[in-house]
Amino acid sequence: MSELFSTLSMREVEVPNRLAVSPMCQYSCEPDGLPTEWHRVHLGSRAVGGAGIVMTEATAVEPRGRITPADLGIWSDEHAAALEPITEFVREQGGVPAIQLAHAGHKASKTRPWEGNVPIHPEENDDGWEVLSPSPSGYPPFPGDDPSIRKATHDDIADVVEAYRAAAERSLAAGFEIAEVHAAHGYLLHEFLSPATNHREDEYGGSFENRTRFVREVVTAVREVWPDDKPVFVRISGTDWLADRPSWDIEQSVRLASDLKELGVDLVDVSSGGLHPDQNPPGGPNFQVPLAEQIREETGIAVGAVGGITEPEQAEAIVQNGRADLVLVGREFLRDPYFGLRAADELADEPESWPIQYRRAVQ
Ligand SMILES: Cc1cc2nc3c(=O)[nH]c(=O)nc-3n(C[C@H](O)[C@H](O)[C@H](O)COP(=O)(O)O)c2cc1C
Repeated sequence: MSELFSTLSMREVEVPNRLAVSPMCQYSCEPDGLPTEWHRVHLGSRAVGGAGIVMTEATAVEPRGRITPADLGIWSDEHAAALEPITEFVREQGGVPAIQLAHAGHKASKTRPWEGNVPIHPEENDDGWEVLSPSPSGYPPFPGDDPSIRKATHDDIADVVEAYRAAAERSLAAGFEIAEVHAAHGYLLHEFLSPATNHREDEYGGSFENRTRFVREVVTAVREVWPDDKPVFVRISGTDWLADRPSWDIEQSVRLASDLKELGVDLVDVSSGGLHPDQNPPGGPNFQVPLAEQIREETGIAVGAVGGITEPEQAEAIVQNGRADLVLVGREFLRDPYFGLRAADELADEPESWPIQYRRAVQ
């Protein structure tokens, strides 16, 4: 019996298997943040390809929160309406549509990776904008990175919390069934969590309670508008991989996960790093799984494991061994949109899990 291909029930949502498409930026919008045919085909193919959850890329809750001008957004009703056909299609394929709600903070206003991922300075180029940061002076930028920075005021923080709330409401209208708050990878919420980037002296900096205040406010706002019968996920970086200095680590992640559980979060999606150029991650297959496993063990909250998972048997073992409840797969789903079908074929041998249109290939 495959555990990977067993149902994951969260609140009233039944995910048909424990395999999710990890959120992956496509940098394929016009500067309006609206999805294009690319998104429809990209996300649609992975739904056809057997993923239990198909999650959008980081979707900006306000224009300032985009990494690049080509990022997806959900800051207006027009965005929600444009995303609806995608969620409908994912559901028609038996998958659960999920959205990652994001704010890029200090790592915003960049060119796309294939254009160098360099800052776009608003003084020089109308495509750029002023970026938000917990503490501009303390943030060690990535090489060549000196964007126009604004230290987030209390009003800015309150605006972002409300932008998350409104984005969650619109995501619901668009037909998403899972909302994931992006608090990882050195983006705005993670920048507040980590003492390596948060040097504030107000109630959003200093102690663990202060540094986690912003993410708790965002999650509370999202949970308030997200229905009780639908799950909320939070993606965190389990550690900054900066053992030589005050930074975010697994002990704090465990403590945060426990707070998030109290706030009604259903699953913590455990990634790592992305905050600082000096990070020193071990890499390799399953390298982040121990972080997820520890959070699961010590808090009892459901967790998602991600990173270096490329083989059906490997994903199966993670779930079988109780290390995680969900496996998120990124690059392998780019290499093979039908990874889910391939895994089902190998592990579950159920031709009927293939789309009817394709079944002659496996009967
Ligand atoms: C092209 C690309 C875009 C990504 N964009 C996002 C993103 O929008 N949000 C996010 O949380 N992680 C993002 N990631 C990280 C992936 O979700 C995933 O955590 C990472 O690639 C490790 O998993 P993998 O080894 O299965 O690829 C991205 C990764 C890739 C390769």
